[in-house]
Amino acid sequence: PDFTVEVLPQIDSSNSELMRRIRAGQCEPTLLVAEQQTAGRGRLGRDWHSQVGDSLTFSLALPLAPADWSGLSLAVGVSVVDSLHADLQLKWPNDVWLQGRKLAGILIETASTGDQRVAVVGIGINIAPRAGDGLSTAPAWLQEVLPDVDAGQALLRIAAPLVQALKAFEIGGFAPFQAQFDQRDLLRDRAVNLSNGTVGMARGVDAQGGLLLQTPNGLQTVTSAEVSVRPA
Ligand code: BTN
Repeated sequence: PDFTVEVLPQIDSSNSELMRRIRAGQCEPTLLVAEQQTAGRGRLGRDWHSQVGDSLTFSLALPLAPADWSGLSLAVGVSVVDSLHADLQLKWPNDVWLQGRKLAGILIETASTGDQRVAVVGIGINIAPRAGDGLSTAPAWLQEVLPDVDAGQALLRIAAPLVQALKAFEIGGFAPFQAQFDQRDLLRDRAVNLSNGTVGMARGVDAQGGLLLQTPNGLQTVTSAEVSVRPA
């Protein structure tokens, strides 16, 4: 393919490793698979935990020069769900959900060297639980919908379309992905709470990927927040 593939048995975080390399001047397109992460990171400063052998954790570094970066995380989410399974949904901005539980998370960061900006797209997918995975919060597993797809096959399905999606985003921004996001939108027309206390009805996303929220004070556009669905 048009990127280097590297598999590391253990690393703190595949995103952190690529960010370090980019800052050190290495910005070739690279797909880095971590068999084990000792300090996996999630969005909003959270941790991402996975057990060896039960998940796929990797990051893709790709130099990108879009006119507008907004909506990139949603476009990546659309690409990932499209390459995996018809039953998957996206919880804004880009959590991948299956039947009411989280299946995968996406962490996008950017780093620069010189005048080049490189996107680092990190993806963690629960593939299949191992015996003894004692999980208090039960996530979803890809095995539930794709029993024959292991971590390696999931990576093969996701990687090439993801590169194409990033290139499409570079040219056209989020707009070409908006309709597909709408079809996968888990929050649409549901009552939601934002981490900052705002409550409202989710009404889809705008052309920049912002969450449209109908609140008592009118329609608001949310660009960054933790959103939870309010129990009915
Ligand atoms: C989230 O749900 O908040 C995002 C989770 C992203 C996890 C992946 S696993 C591979 C890559 N390396 C990391 O440290 N995080 C991402």
